[in-house]
Amino acid sequence: MSEASTDAVRHELRDGILVVSVDNPPVNALGAKVRYELRAAIESAQQNPNVEAVLLIGAGRNFIGGADIREFGKPPVPPSLPEVCNRIEASSKLVVAAIHGAALGGGLEVALAAHYRIALADAKIGLPEVTLGLLPGAGGTQRMPRLLGAKAALDLMLSGRHVGANKAHALGLIDRIGASADVMAEGLAYARSLLTARAPVRRTCDALGLVDRAASRAAIEAARVEVSQRSRRLFSPLKIVDAVQAALEMSFDDGLRHERQLFLQCLDSPQRAGLVHAFFAERAAQKAPETRKGKPRAIASVGVIGGGTMGAGIAVALLDAGLSVTMVERDDASLAYGRANVEKVYKALIAKGRMTSQAKAALLARFDGSTSYEALHAVDLVVEAVFEDMAVKHAVFAELDRVCKPGAVLATNTSYLDIDAIAASISRPADVIGLHFFSPANLMKLLEVVVPAQVSADVVATAFDLAKKLRKVPVRAGVCDGFIGNRVLAIYRAAADHMMEDGASPYQIDRAVRDFGFPMGPFQVSDLAGGDIGWATRKRRAATRDPKLRYVQIADRICERGWFGQKTGRGFYLYADGARTGKPDPDVEAIIDAERERANITPRTFTDDEIMRRYMAAMINEGANVVHEGIALRPLDVDVTFLHGYGFPRHRGGPMKYADSVGLSNVLADIREFAKEDPVFWQPSPLIVELVERGATLASLNQSA
Ligand code: 3HC
Ligand code: NAI
Repeated sequence: MSEASTDAVRHELRDGILVVSVDNPPVNALGAKVRYELRAAIESAQQNPNVEAVLLIGAGRNFIGGADIREFGKPPVPPSLPEVCNRIEASSKLVVAAIHGAALGGGLEVALAAHYRIALADAKIGLPEVTLGLLPGAGGTQRMPRLLGAKAALDLMLSGRHVGANKAHALGLIDRIGASADVMAEGLAYARSLLTARAPVRRTCDALGLVDRAASRAAIEAARVEVSQRSRRLFSPLKIVDAVQAALEMSFDDGLRHERQLFLQCLDSPQRAGLVHAFFAERAAQKAPETRKGKPRAIASVGVIGGGTMGAGIAVALLDAGLSVTMVERDDASLAYGRANVEKVYKALIAKGRMTSQAKAALLARFDGSTSYEALHAVDLVVEAVFEDMAVKHAVFAELDRVCKPGAVLATNTSYLDIDAIAASISRPADVIGLHFFSPANLMKLLEVVVPAQVSADVVATAFDLAKKLRKVPVRAGVCDGFIGNRVLAIYRAAADHMMEDGASPYQIDRAVRDFGFPMGPFQVSDLAGGDIGWATRKRRAATRDPKLRYVQIADRICERGWFGQKTGRGFYLYADGARTGKPDPDVEAIIDAERERANITPRTFTDDEIMRRYMAAMINEGANVVHEGIALRPLDVDVTFLHGYGFPRHRGGPMKYADSVGLSNVLADIREFAKEDPVFWQPSPLIVELVERGATLASLNQSA
């Protein structure tokens, strides 16, 4: 017998079991319509004498991906998710959840409200709310600790990590693992077996995971200490601990009310807005116009030219993604060095117990090296990572043009050079693209996909497809000096240099930047990357630099002494005996004093707040210029670049989101104020001026690609 069917939640009676399937593509998020219809389905089951049990499943690839994130920040529409979960739990008829794919956040909370749970092998189960600045707000903080105990529940909620079916079973989150891939059949069979065994209605709110009060208290206190050390800038982790404490100390109903209050506080926090922005921005960034028009080419084998810092890291990223790699170097010694660079990464993993030597051997079986370009005749794609020198790049691309098969994608990892010029130098410019990886290339998530004028849409689509295979976050960038990231970096780094010459110490600037949420300040970054890299770029640009533009020479004075940072034991900081964290260096302070004197500057003091206002204003202004010139498609592309390539604190959403949150007119007022001292450097971006005049936000431009 079939019952009424609706759009977002369908239900049908099968042999006494009411199968309720959530069908709300793409991930069955629990929007208002789903919540309403889910509650109605549960209620109809109570009244229908033919229903012996209810089976909850998800249509498509997932159970339920969570609350509908798009609804956050909008006026709430009843019924709320906690109400729906309570209704499910209160059901007098057995409710079984059968999980395949994602049961995340509110999706898992629905499953926790069911009386029994089965999951298939492909299940991804977790409470990732913390990654969105939230806490599980539909009973998760109350039911999960009762089911698993405080320690395991806190671990899952504070990490936000997903677990598979086996782990979920071991933890006691699910009761059974389904053997097949047919969620409906597995769910029905399980529900039937429960009915046959006359299994009771078993409510998670009555589970006894918190009965050992001393152990629960200890777990909560340990979590509180850990959170205040590790996540001290984040708002929601401590609220999660508070909610679990409520689970221990209050009745279930009072605990739910407390959870709701804490959830609403998180929902209203700017961190939630920043983190949700980051979630959607990452997904939007993957959709460049060419990915709609173009068809990705198949990539199985890749050539990497150069086995230095970047070439080796890129090779590792490719090997890790299951691709075959052929490395080409200039001579045998360089090739041996390149191979050693690749092996070093895997050796370190083995030393840490995170890889077996068999796994390393299996990966390296896909790795090959040569000093001859002929070895690349059959590869599907090449990434060039040789010296940053146009003549060398031209020579390499001429060879690629000669040996590569038609249709091979020819990519350069150049940081600054003109990719249009590289493309124009060969006979197949439509195959040339920029794939700008970040160091270390096997770990850093960002991949700037730099799109030259003549490239074909298929090649761009291939680059985005490759990023997905490599589990990188791709951002489309146009050709200019430094693309999105390094171009903006040059400007805020200059602002930091100005402040250093004007009186702030590099150590104060780094500290202020860290306190804002970056893992490192700009001078620490320079010491880590090697001061020589920036020095070489400055020397290259010296001839074309606008003489009216302020130029701070402190970094040059430091580099002239051979102090390139960590690798030479000193840079802006001192690294005694190979230490990885540096100490302030009085000699550097003396150099700074001397430079101030030479430039006739009487040092003044800066508060940390003043430092950050200038630092961020410079970053935002150049970010806006990059959007204005079409180098970035939308402000969100700048945000994603900074989140994944430059350590921008995720809870602030990215520089463009941050600008909106402090108010674009305030940023403009700052820029105009700073321009009184230095009108050449502080020229307001025309885009910011225009948006402020219209009373619009940068976010208003995010829909436009
Ligand atoms: N709400 C609204 N939209 C969502 C969503 C959600 N919870 N989860 C995913 N989407 C959207 C994405 O934005 C994307 O939209 P687009 O196609 O327009 O860009 C689309 O669904 C597909 O998403 P993915 O590209 O991420 O798809 P995948 O198949 O790679 O991954 C997933 C699926 C594992 C479910 C992944 O999307 C995910 O991790 N989603 C978020 C899960 C989450 O954080 N849930 C908790 C929400 S907060 C909550 O539940 C509060 C509660 O406690 C009250
Ligand atoms: P590197 O100096 O560490 O390595 C370059 C390698 O290229 C050397 O091993 C050299 O032997 C090899 N090489 C030079 N000419 C060659 C040729 N004609 N044929 C084959 N191999 C040749 O340099 P790094 O840092 O790896 O940089 C490489 C490229 O990546 C540059 O374009 C750089 O701008 C870019 N890049 C560098 C980043 C970094 O943080 N180091 C970040 C992103 C991009």
